[in-house]
Order: sequence, then structure tokens, then C-alpha cells
Amino acid sequence: MKKFLVIGNPIEHSLSPKLQNYWIKKNNLQAIYGKLEANESDLPELCDSLKQRKLDGLNVTIPFKKTIIPFLDILSGNALRTQSVNTISIENGKLIGHNTDIDGFELSIKKLNYDVKNKKVIILGAGGVVPSLIYALKKMNVSKIYLGNRTRKKAENLKLFFENLEIIDWGDLPTFDIIINATSLGLKEDDKFGIDFAQKGNNKLFYDVIYEPFKTEFSENGAKNGNNLANGLNMFFYQAQKAFKIWHNIEPEINDEVIKFIKMKDETK
Ligand code: ATR
Repeated sequence: MKKFLVIGNPIEHSLSPKLQNYWIKKNNLQAIYGKLEANESDLPELCDSLKQRKLDGLNVTIPFKKTIIPFLDILSGNALRTQSVNTISIENGKLIGHNTDIDGFELSIKKLNYDVKNKKVIILGAGGVVPSLIYALKKMNVSKIYLGNRTRKKAENLKLFFENLEIIDWGDLPTFDIIINATSLGLKEDDKFGIDFAQKGNNKLFYDVIYEPFKTEFSENGAKNGNNLANGLNMFFYQAQKAFKIWHNIEPEINDEVIKFIKMKDETK
């Protein structure tokens, strides 16, 4: 029986076990996928468990996407470029760090049928997922990326990795076509941005990386002006699909059945 885990902190909200176990069952694999609320001090032992084949793969989420890197042997190109790892596999005794968030985000945008080429983008937040968003957006040829974060220093650190990023003050909103919430604001019901998102014009895209809850203050603000809305659910599906492929060499299906299953509130998370 192969064993997989998603590690993070907090981890309670993660739907990865529900989705990965669904696909494991659909594909008749002998495997199980669980979740673990970890601390940074647990990372060496977890990586050791992989080397000893007590574990066969990991997903890594907030806040370990970067801090896990020193414990790995090899990074994929995407993980190296973003210094962000969300999937770990083991091959020939070596721990390999992958980044499937980039593909996940890019595929989720393609699915929207919203042409991002030459568009101006504001990203709010500078946490673990943001380098992947920047990298994917650049690949999709957006014309401009503004980055605003409550702690400005963290936004400025990202500028060291990505040229042409323009750092804006938290709360400033230059004219934009696309705005992405990559903060954790919205995870809790009473979270408030304290930012007025009202801008003239429509056909803007409000993309909330959060997918649970499905409706947030951010998405409701976007909806008010008749803009396009997206949340992180498709990104979640696609990054998970790529991780499954890495571990099992099978591309699992994303269809109405699995989407309905994941959206259903139930006990089998
Ligand atoms: P990490 O920063 O550890 O990688 P993350 O969940 O990936 O964790 O990122 C959280 C993001 O949400 C950060 O950009 C954070 O801003 P700070 O860098 O200033 O902490 C942002 N965030 C969290 N709570 C916030 C709040 N109340 N107001 C504004 N931004 C907030």
C-alpha cells in the first residue's frame, strides 16, 4: 500500500485527501492519501520517511513550499525557477521537488476562455503561491504585473526574482484588467480587505485563489460590477491532476462527477 500525505499548517481545510483518494479508488490503486498538520521542525523527519519508503509522496502547502527545499535532492525546472515546491516524489532514492501550481494556474485560466495576453494584472499577496502565479502570467504574456502586499518587504523580495514587477502600496489599485487575490483574506467569514475594488468599466477578471469558501468578499466585490469571476477550484483540480500523474503515471479525469463530489460538503475529506 503506497502512502501519500499533504502537509501544511493549517491543513484542516485541505480538500486534497478527498480528491486524491477519489482518484486512487477510481483507478483501483493500492494507495492511501492523508493530511498532516506539520511544523517546520517536522520537515527533516518527513523527508527521511520518504527516503525510507515509509511514505511515497508528499504535497506541500502553506507555509512550507519554500522551506522544504533544503531537504530535497533535485528540483524540477518550474520548482527551481519559482523556489516553490508543492509536490515531492522519490526516484532512485532521490527526493524530487516539483511545482504543479504553475500548470494548475495556467490551465485554470485557459479553461476560463479569458485572453490574458497584454492585460494588466494586480496580484494581492506575496505568500507561497505568488511566484507560481507571476511565472505563469509572464509565460502567458501579460503586459504588466503589479504586486501589493500588506508587508511591503515581502513583495520587494519577490522583485529580486522577477524583473518588471511593480510593487504598489497595500490598498493602491492602479488601472487593471485582472486582479488576483493571493492572500489568505477570505478564508475566514469575517475577513475584510478594507479596499474599495470599485473601478470603472467591466470585463475585468476577479480571480480568487481561495476556493473554500466559494464566495468571498473579494468575489462579491467583483460580481457587483458585472466582471468575470474565478476562484481557485480549477487551479486546485489541475495542480492535483499533475501531482497524481507524477506519482502514479496516470492522468486522472476531471469531470462533472468529481467536481460535484468535491463541492459536496461531507465527512470523507
Ligand atoms: P506565507 O506568507 O507564510 O507564505 P501565505 O498564506 O502563503 O503564507 O500568505 C498569506 C498572504 O496573505 C500574505 O501575503 C499575507 O500578507 P503578509 O505578508 O503581510 O503577512 C496576506 N495576509 C494575511 N492576512 C492578511 C490581512 N489580514 N490583511 C492583508 N493581508 C493578509
